[in-house]
Amino acid sequence: MAAIKEPESFDSKFYKAADAFFPAYSSLGLTFDDVTLATLYSEILPRDTQLDTTLAEGLRLNIPVISADMDTVTESRMAIAMALNGGMGLIHYNMPDRQQLSEVSRVKNNVHGLIQDPIKVAPEQLIGDVLKMMEERKFSFSTFPVVDTGGKLIGLLSGHVVKPRYAKQKISDALTPRAQVQTINKKELGKDPIARADKFFTEHPGIHKLLVVDDQDSLRGLFTMSDVERITQERNAQFKPARDAHFRLICGAAVSATRNAFGELDRERILTHVGGLVERGVDAVAVSTAHGHSKGVGDTVRMLRDAFPKLPIFAGNVTSAEGVEYLAACGADAIKVGQGPGSICTTRVVAGVGIPQLTALYVCAHAAAKKKVTLLADGGITKSGDIVKALTLANAVICGGLMAGCTEAPGEIMEIGGKLYKQYRGMGSLAAMKVGSAARYGHSGNVTQKVAPEGVEALKEVAGSADRVLAQLIGGIQSGMGYLGAANLAQLRQKARYIRVSPAGQREAVPHDVVELKTGN
Ligand code: XMP
Repeated sequence: MAAIKEPESFDSKFYKAADAFFPAYSSLGLTFDDVTLATLYSEILPRDTQLDTTLAEGLRLNIPVISADMDTVTESRMAIAMALNGGMGLIHYNMPDRQQLSEVSRVKNNVHGLIQDPIKVAPEQLIGDVLKMMEERKFSFSTFPVVDTGGKLIGLLSGHVVKPRYAKQKISDALTPRAQVQTINKKELGKDPIARADKFFTEHPGIHKLLVVDDQDSLRGLFTMSDVERITQERNAQFKPARDAHFRLICGAAVSATRNAFGELDRERILTHVGGLVERGVDAVAVSTAHGHSKGVGDTVRMLRDAFPKLPIFAGNVTSAEGVEYLAACGADAIKVGQGPGSICTTRVVAGVGIPQLTALYVCAHAAAKKKVTLLADGGITKSGDIVKALTLANAVICGGLMAGCTEAPGEIMEIGGKLYKQYRGMGSLAAMKVGSAARYGHSGNVTQKVAPEGVEALKEVAGSADRVLAQLIGGIQSGMGYLGAANLAQLRQKARYIRVSPAGQREAVPHDVVELKTGN
């Protein structure tokens, strides 16, 4: 029986689904600002949209945002903030292997609200020394655990005695002795340490600090009541932290396809290092290079897949369907897409290579659907609207520049002309390659001026906390989904309709013909 053809709607002549839209522009590379999404009938309020995404078996994030594996973006502090907000950080590899292992451990061992390494004082110090330290380091608190040289807890110096009138007294004479200090063994914190600490504070009126010790009575951390109260309130937040099956924060790490002195893949080093990462509980590794459709990356992915059958593996970067198919066949679960879209990238200028990001995502999405792998849109994202567009084709986005100005990004804040900045550099910049990322761009470790850098060193204006930046981004994503009537990311991918924007349309899309006093933030 012949199928009855649905009449084409008038809208669909203008606003096209991906499979009609992108092939119509097959000879033109398009990126985020070249297109816009059409609205659809909606019963979905932005606040009710779900943003969870599964990137590989057992790897589920509550928001589809990953911070980039760059040495000015993601170390443990950023990875903790990302996971607490429901996303994930990829710890960069521009550091010694041992350090990367401990960065991952820091994320995996992070107990939200537990100050792991509280400021301590020693019994032989004077109260005057403590007052001086508080003044110099601008501490707003005045109660300190007292420990001996081996880290064993011997008491608590209460804020009531940290006063100038007692400056000459020794701490050992003024402290509350160990026997009278309330503590909890780290083992007793259980799966939900905050709930445990919260219960403790309810049961002990007037006590605002709970010290955590181990079996040897060494100090292992400190909870404060105010932190616990803040976190308990945050629990009602819509997007929960991204955690593994043991309730630990999720963390990823990038690894490079390093070669030995003979130019061969350094199998032993890669396997030993990834083995160490797995032991520490890493949730995914990313074989992260500028050219993922290459033998070195493929061999590395194959080797890791054989050695660690259950480990989620990301690999890239590619911009072609063949590249996706190749890495999928090698065993990758999620493919990083993006060559040259990054805000600090110069690959297209230097090498004349790369594809505008939306076209690249469409081409790769086609292959990803066939091969049943997921896609990570990596680079070029400058605003939440770009994320919405990227998520119509990919399962998550990787952000470098958007997160580089956050407090949690590595690097010092500097003031220039009254404005505050943080350093942000490409991993293919000369400075980053000298520290170790040269392999990512196919160069040997010994980088000289003769190597053509593929990234720049730059500054980002300080953006505040990752919480704040992510809240803005999430709000934007939810808003976009509300306009498309998409309750979740699968619906967003299925419902998206695109139209090309003219240069005048691009000007119309941003504030125009006004004197702007304040941006949206
Ligand atoms: P955004 O736009 O978020 O991009 O700042 C971050 C992504 O850019 C890639 N990356 C580079 N690409 N040269 C490049 O061509 C570089 O030096 C470089 N460093 C980072 C990387 O994929 C990152 O996630």
